[in-house]
Amino acid sequence: MYTKEGLMRILGIETSCDETSVALVEDGKHILAEKTFSQVAIHREFDGVVPEIASRQHLATILQVLEAVIQPADLNSLDGIAVTQGPGLIGSLLVGLGVAKAIAYKTSKPLIPVNHIEAHLYAPHLFAEIPFPYVGLVASGGHTLLFFVRSFYDYDLLGSTIDDAVGEAFDKLAKVLGLGYPGGPIIDKLAQQGNAHRFLPEKKRPQLLPDKDRDRYNFSYSGLKTAFTYRIQHQGNTSCRIEDICAAFQREAIELLLRKSRNALDDTGIKTFVISGGVSANSFLRERVREWEKEGIATFMAPLAYCGDNAAMVAGRGYQNALQGKFGDMRTDAFSRLEFVRKGKR
Ligand code: KG4
Ligand code: ZN
Repeated sequence: MYTKEGLMRILGIETSCDETSVALVEDGKHILAEKTFSQVAIHREFDGVVPEIASRQHLATILQVLEAVIQPADLNSLDGIAVTQGPGLIGSLLVGLGVAKAIAYKTSKPLIPVNHIEAHLYAPHLFAEIPFPYVGLVASGGHTLLFFVRSFYDYDLLGSTIDDAVGEAFDKLAKVLGLGYPGGPIIDKLAQQGNAHRFLPEKKRPQLLPDKDRDRYNFSYSGLKTAFTYRIQHQGNTSCRIEDICAAFQREAIELLLRKSRNALDDTGIKTFVISGGVSANSFLRERVREWEKEGIATFMAPLAYCGDNAAMVAGRGYQNALQGKFGDMRTDAFSRLEFVRKGKR
């Protein structure tokens, strides 16, 4: 167990995808300084993240981002260096890990590897005291995962996507519609001026992954894009408004997240729900879960700026790892894919 008199100041480093982010967080709660450089504008012309460009860009900017948060002379005041170990783009992860190791080596402070999914799930904890146990949803561009969480260190995976991630589905539809990257925020904005029923009346709504036993907590998104593409192409001359298409797509994508999450909440009787990951910034999702409050379900979510990739959540989760004595060393490697021991049946 890691013990220290007084406050613990952890530096967080996040480079798993297309944000270069560094943050300094005290006791897993107080964000003292942070800086994020987003590469979105660079990847936009390719309609998605280009892994090699992402790694090179991390390499070009990370020391500048670091210096905006902490001066080299102050690195010795740190109590640990937390860094995203995976899952993510391997070349991008290696940049953050290399810098974190160099700081840990030079200062003789502990290196704290952090799982990106656990970091996302931690983000709402930066802003509120959240009671355990809870049902936790991580919905991002790469993952759609539903957890039963008993504590920071004890949780089960209840379900996940059987094909595409929900954020990926938003990004793919935006590409089909020629809206640009990343699709989530663009579709969200357009959907606010749209009418879902106009494009997709109630009786035409697709039946997405029924709640059959083994898929009660699972998600599926690959068919949604195809169903929408097909419907758009067969609209003929009765050209439909893009806002209505976005509203209809968003409704289907988010309602599926809600239905499967609700299954988990109802089956376990748990009244606390935590949503995180880039898609938890979705305005329709945030509005819909607030309605559950009337039924006694309290939902916790991070402010918009902390739904996507950021280093504050890495430093926060790193603090929890440090309390448990979970440290890395100079051999610590990055990993690209998520390996979970599944308790579910699929
Ligand atoms: O967590 P994140 O920043 O990166 C990953 O770990 O994947 O999530 C990025 C994803 C993208 O697919 C993006 O389109 C989606 O989150 N996203 C949204 C919204 N904002 C970001 N999806 C729906 N509505 C939003 N407002
Ligand atoms: Zn992420």
